[in-house]
Amino acid sequence: MTRELIIAIDGPSGAGKSTLSRRLAATLGYINIDTGAMYRAVALAALRTGTDPGDEEALERLCARLHIGFVRSEKGERVLLEDEDVSSAIRTPEISLLTSRISAVAAVRRDLVRRQRDMGEEGGVVLEGRDIGTVVFPHAEVKFFLSASARERGRRRFEELQAKGVDVDLEQTIAEVEARDAADTAREHAPLLQAPDAVVIDSTNLDIEEVLEKMLEIVESRRVALRAGR
Ligand code: DC
Repeated sequence: MTRELIIAIDGPSGAGKSTLSRRLAATLGYINIDTGAMYRAVALAALRTGTDPGDEEALERLCARLHIGFVRSEKGERVLLEDEDVSSAIRTPEISLLTSRISAVAAVRRDLVRRQRDMGEEGGVVLEGRDIGTVVFPHAEVKFFLSASARERGRRRFEELQAKGVDVDLEQTIAEVEARDAADTAREHAPLLQAPDAVVIDSTNLDIEEVLEKMLEIVESRRVALRAGR
């Protein structure tokens, strides 16, 4: 075992994947790859070019010519589409909705999965998404499946929106989280599935530091086992 590890983090939205993936990568000195941001970047490009989200061939052509990258700056990790910083532009509700459609298109998934494999195959990476441990890197050395109850994830989302000054209803936000879970699990291409060998961490009653500590312990014990040839 000469290269560093490939670490996969999957789970539903609102389970804390982004924060934990970033923190875990920073602690280990690994590269962090937010695969959801890549799907979002394709959705933004589709919107801007007027590409029909139902036209798979057009989406395939669009993907083939896009440059999507990540850079680290003093503002944190940034997402680039061509040479433009689109980190904020990909986080609007309109793009979230469109991404959910676009990420169900097989040609888009093929293109992005290939890019993710190219970016991660050397190891020393934490990839975060929905299908990392099942499809992108089924042989990842460490796989986490982060979860939390729909109520708790809805509550976190509600607090996030309120902090931004958006007026929302708690029960309504929880219902939206449940509806999105159902759609993500039922879709034909790359539904949200738990890899059989993933370590499941339920963060309903844990804070970020507690989850991070658990993850670091698991990574360390995996490293020891790999060094011992197990
Ligand atoms: O994690 P996120 O909210 O940024 O993800 C945006 C969308 O992309 C969401 O609808 C799920 C989808 N996605 C996916 O299908 N596969 C991934 N590996 C990552 C995200």
